[in-house]
Amino acid sequence: MNFDEMIDRQSTESVKWNWFEKDVLPMWVADMDFRSPPGVLQALRERVEHGIFGYGFPPKGLGEVISNRLATLYGWQAGTKEISYVPGIVTGFNLGLRAVCEPGDAVIFNTPAYPPFFKAPLSFALKSVENPLARDVDGQYQVDFERFEAQIRENKVKAFILCNPQNPTGRVFTRQELEQFAAICLRHQVTILSDEIHCDIIYDGRKHTPIASLDAETAKICMTFMAPSKTFNIAGLHASEVIIQDPELTKRFCAARRGIVEDPGLLALVAAKAAYEIGGEWLAEVLTYLQANRDWLIAALAEKIPAVKVSKPEGTFLAWLDCSGLELKESPHQFFLREARVGLNEGADFGAEGKDHVRLNFGTPRANLETALARMSAALAKI
Ligand SMILES: Cc1ncc(COP(=O)(O)O)c(C=O)c1O
Repeated sequence: MNFDEMIDRQSTESVKWNWFEKDVLPMWVADMDFRSPPGVLQALRERVEHGIFGYGFPPKGLGEVISNRLATLYGWQAGTKEISYVPGIVTGFNLGLRAVCEPGDAVIFNTPAYPPFFKAPLSFALKSVENPLARDVDGQYQVDFERFEAQIRENKVKAFILCNPQNPTGRVFTRQELEQFAAICLRHQVTILSDEIHCDIIYDGRKHTPIASLDAETAKICMTFMAPSKTFNIAGLHASEVIIQDPELTKRFCAARRGIVEDPGLLALVAAKAAYEIGGEWLAEVLTYLQANRDWLIAALAEKIPAVKVSKPEGTFLAWLDCSGLELKESPHQFFLREARVGLNEGADFGAEGKDHVRLNFGTPRANLETALARMSAALAKI
């Protein structure tokens, strides 16, 4: 695949490419500027050619494809009856909260966090408890487990929204860290809503571990949300899967969605099946390209803008840039938007501690990344 190809997206009502003014290079919303795998495009073409789009069941065999994938990649045995579909992971964890919490209950998550994590508890009159990740001496983000447990105890937390791999820091939690999360949640009867949307985008030979795959006891308190959306760049189709292995949790989740949230659209699931079935080779190639982009970015920042601190993302195509060393008089997002015409994510949207940060999406042709860095460093040179 030629991931260097520059494909016009401004003509496609893309949120990423049409949010800012035309001359701004968008490096924000988490989708990639690459065409999806050829097999996905072919499956969609074939289904569109049929020409009738009446109500449908999920494609035959999709459950088996996902179940086999979980077994092969993670040694996780999840039966097809334990897999269901939702039109997006944000929808999924909102339903999860609705299923397990009562108004007034508390929900915990690590910060900085993907912005909808802050909004979801508000929708159901729940209290948010923020457990901050802190940079260690090597500059990597770590969990303070003691504080995590104390916060759960003090606030009688009912649900934990786990994000693994973590957006925006790019951490891929180790098995040992996941075991600590699980042990604490089991001790305090906290349901884990595990957002694993970025699980296929991991680097340096790391392996993703679904928290529910740790053991049967942990599986009983988990709802796991996965999707082909980031992996195969089909986020706009809204196909995601939920894996729940406890019958009582399944019942609650079904009740929370009934009459409100249907399965994803027919084309979404056609694409999902094709992606999981035949996208493997494309995925291997895109991962090589993304890892090289990540490495180039880290090196270029160190060379051109050394005052910006970044920990090397272990997964995701997102980099969380600490711009506090630039000592700007405004948010770095505003500065780079106005002075460099580069559109990054506003760090404050990921929590209070993100205010001097921006998030940069490197899922784009290298040429775009180079232009963004050149414009950012030129803008800084002028002050
Ligand atoms: C951690 C995380 N969860 C969920 C989503 C969005 O999921 P969806 O579009 O399926 O609702 C994103 C997108 O950036 C994300 O980073």
